[in-house]
Amino acid sequence: MLRFAHALNSHLLGALESAFPEAAAAARAAGAPLDPQLGPASKPEFGDFQANGALALARPLRLAPRAIATAIVDRLAADPAFGALCLPPEIAGPGFINLTLRPEVLAAEVGRRLADPRLGVEPVAPGGAPVVVDFSSPNIAKEMHVGHLRSTIIGDALARVLEFRGHPVLRLNHVGDWGTQFGMLITHLKQVAPEALDTADAVDLGDLVAFYRQAKARFDSDEAFQTTSREEVVKLQSGDPVSRRAWQLLCDQSRREFQRLYDRLDIRLDERGESFYNPYLEAVVADLAAAGLLVSDGGAQCVFLEAEDGTASQAPPVIVRKSDGGFNYATTDLAAIRYRFAAPPDGDGARRVIYVTDAGQASHFAGVFQVARRAGWIPEGGRLEHVPFGLVQGEDGKKLKTRAGDTVRLKELLDEAVERCEADLRRRLAEEERQEAEAFISEVATTVGLAAVKYADLSTNRITNYQFSFDRMLALSGNTAPYLLYAVVRIAGIARKGGGDDAVPAVLGFSEPQEWALVRQLLQFDAVIQEVEEELLPNRLCSYLFELCQLFNRFYDQVPVLRAEEPARGSRLALCRLSADTLKQGLGLLGIPTLERM
Ligand code: ARG
Repeated sequence: MLRFAHALNSHLLGALESAFPEAAAAARAAGAPLDPQLGPASKPEFGDFQANGALALARPLRLAPRAIATAIVDRLAADPAFGALCLPPEIAGPGFINLTLRPEVLAAEVGRRLADPRLGVEPVAPGGAPVVVDFSSPNIAKEMHVGHLRSTIIGDALARVLEFRGHPVLRLNHVGDWGTQFGMLITHLKQVAPEALDTADAVDLGDLVAFYRQAKARFDSDEAFQTTSREEVVKLQSGDPVSRRAWQLLCDQSRREFQRLYDRLDIRLDERGESFYNPYLEAVVADLAAAGLLVSDGGAQCVFLEAEDGTASQAPPVIVRKSDGGFNYATTDLAAIRYRFAAPPDGDGARRVIYVTDAGQASHFAGVFQVARRAGWIPEGGRLEHVPFGLVQGEDGKKLKTRAGDTVRLKELLDEAVERCEADLRRRLAEEERQEAEAFISEVATTVGLAAVKYADLSTNRITNYQFSFDRMLALSGNTAPYLLYAVVRIAGIARKGGGDDAVPAVLGFSEPQEWALVRQLLQFDAVIQEVEEELLPNRLCSYLFELCQLFNRFYDQVPVLRAEEPARGSRLALCRLSADTLKQGLGLLGIPTLERM
């Protein structure tokens, strides 16, 4: 649809310019060219698009909006290229111009999409600057929790959409591998489990997490332990070989555990932890000092924040260097921003940097973004965006916990989704008296179970808290992964019965309103993808796919396909195929593979 929107916009502009040449020239000279204000129709009965520009032009042109609209429509009527695209426009209300694409134009576009592996989504110009998506980012020696799972799933979907549009994407895993936790952990392990510090695999992540808890408890209560831990951090950060090796082993251990989860979810990430930015921390302080932003506050080096109007902000300052000389989470993030925008080889040369974390970190990011901007690290047109999401809650609306009250382990959560799917599937097979191989059962259960977890997360507006419910995410009806996956399976079955060959009739034609509703929804795919690229809201793509399924099911339930006569039969089978292609592509961009049978 975007292609048509561009074409119509230029026709409308041409009409405006020829109807009001002086006003157009003046507007252009003033740097604000006339705008036809073309947008999607506000209701389907108004057609495909509407142009509202006549209303805004009434004042400057000193004419009634309807008179302006009439002048535009008269010019359009004289333009054959416009006439080939659109039915004669209608003027509605005070002066809106309603535009309806010609049916044969829509049908031909369906044919084009069937032959286009990109399904009408234009790629961005090659050679563009990279986009950084900073996501997942768990902490070494700590358990990965459901918040990290959300970040992993949402970040991956956004990265996939950006990649599909053709952006070079850096999928960065900003793991917490450099904090004070290592001082405590190494000190504690030296005393209670020294083998963990010089032998690979001596402990697993579960043990590490327990050791970390013990170390933290000692740190909070034992002053001598605190001192030794602080010394240990200094040793590590200054490159002491024994500490380095212990650190390396601890990181490897956690990394292997994280990787198992990423593999299972088919998620690719490049690890670039906090430690990577260690060599750049001094330069951050130097830059900020040179920019006159650093203020000493009780021995700590801080940057005080400004409110939007430039006055002093009430928010706490960003601490860049603690009074003991140490750096913190914010300093590392400043170094990361500086590096990501800097030109290669000493930086990523990015133009857009996206952070996917829980909403609780919003003020942290607002603070470091502002400091980075004032330090002059963000080039013209550079974008820094925090993509916040809400908490994962249990069905009781409280923080997600196991029945025994413990924090939920991600592996167990995914296992349970798959197990429940398998049980559902076996029940259904028994009811239908269907025999299936064990390999089939396990593939379907795994695909549907993991899809359900991902989709449940992606389909809610990410800003709101999200109630985790196996029953809801595994339901076969409603806006769920099983519902969408079923639709794909259903269409695959139709294609098999329909002869299954991929030949598309040379001329497609549609007659029924259910067909046209489906055609129009299919053709919106490009616009939805670009919207997700801009707004970073994967739930928009989910809603689109859900509506697409509903329109498909209505079409297939109400309009004969396999029993229709040619040429309708061929056109309808082509619609089925484009529906399947669009669903598969859309789900693929959400990180969800589809099935041919289930
Ligand atoms: N490790 C952090 C946490 O677990 C998330 C890091 C997000 N990325 C960043 N550049 N700060 O909360």
